[in-house]
Amino acid sequence: MKSRALRVPRSEGERARQRLRDARALRGDLKILEEGEWIFLPLTDEASVAPEEGTLLERDFALAADRGPQDYRDLLTTWSVEDREALPRSYDVIGEIVLLRLPTSLAPRGREVGEALLRFVPGARLVGADFGVHGPERRREVLRLAGSGPWRTRHRENGLEFEVDLERAYFSPRLAREHARVAAEVDVGNRVYDLCCGVGPFALTIAHVAQPARVVAVDSNPWAIELLRLTAARYAFGGRVEPLKVEVERFLDGAERVDRVILNLPHEGIKYLPSVGNAVSTGGRLFFYEVTDRAEEGSRPASLVERLGGSAAWRLRERHVVHPYSPAADLVAYTFERSSG
Ligand SMILES: C[S@@+](CC[C@H](N)C(=O)[O-])C[C@H]1O[C@@H](n2cnc3c(N)ncnc32)[C@H](O)[C@@H]1O
Repeated sequence: MKSRALRVPRSEGERARQRLRDARALRGDLKILEEGEWIFLPLTDEASVAPEEGTLLERDFALAADRGPQDYRDLLTTWSVEDREALPRSYDVIGEIVLLRLPTSLAPRGREVGEALLRFVPGARLVGADFGVHGPERRREVLRLAGSGPWRTRHRENGLEFEVDLERAYFSPRLAREHARVAAEVDVGNRVYDLCCGVGPFALTIAHVAQPARVVAVDSNPWAIELLRLTAARYAFGGRVEPLKVEVERFLDGAERVDRVILNLPHEGIKYLPSVGNAVSTGGRLFFYEVTDRAEEGSRPASLVERLGGSAAWRLRERHVVHPYSPAADLVAYTFERSSG
């Protein structure tokens, strides 16, 4: 049967499905279609979808013969409606690991929640409670709810498979679009620094889709650098990436200027801003991520430009919210360009 549909990359399929379902924009009577790297999600007539969410088109879909449960919480049949609704609808899928923010009040029933997700998410091996990232290395605190095996997995994103260890090095499946967006802004032959690179999703995506001369990827966490090396070793283009286990402040001391610099350290990055700016060549760009208070979002670009060295040398090219961070703040992506100096 023909239906309006949203086409998204496979790596974003689960997130898009959850988003559309929550907005009641996903048709439940038709089967989601998978084709190579793409997922096609059938849309309801009322669905309104922003252009940046994917490509809108028409496709033929098969009827969903047995729809089964549409929500993992439907599998918790002995639970009260109240308890079920206290659980988050959404969860993250990283490789074959599922992570969910479990409310403290339901912690004693974590195993049941884990078992439900294990049954509900195709290919899931391990389900964990996610207590967020902490410390200078932004390591994730996780607690096994159900399933087995290590926190080590391979996660597919933007056509690449990354080595990930959820306990030992930062990784978020929510930044896939950012990794692709920044990579699309790198020109052939560019020299790039990926500062605070984690397991290397910016650096490796850039090496994959652009043809940079070199990407130097810097992180202080030895596990992150080791995982990056392992991913890079599996791809021919991995040779363009040079992983360095070093503090960003030490690396920047005397670093030559390059065409593109990425700094994704949203709480602490601000303290490195002047020296990070010095590492950008004239005409070059800085991709900077920050958790910004919503009340300050209008004035923030000007104060960041000041911090970089002033508006004679720097201008804001683009800025957008990546996702809400808290009730009063967003994770914001800023692209600055150096015009002189
Ligand atoms: C938010 S994570 C970003 C990871 C990666 N860019 C990504 O998008 O997945 C921040 C990273 O900065 C690293 N880091 C924190 N302070 C650092 C420092 N002073 N020097 C080098 N790396 C640092 C952490 O180890 C962590 O991997």
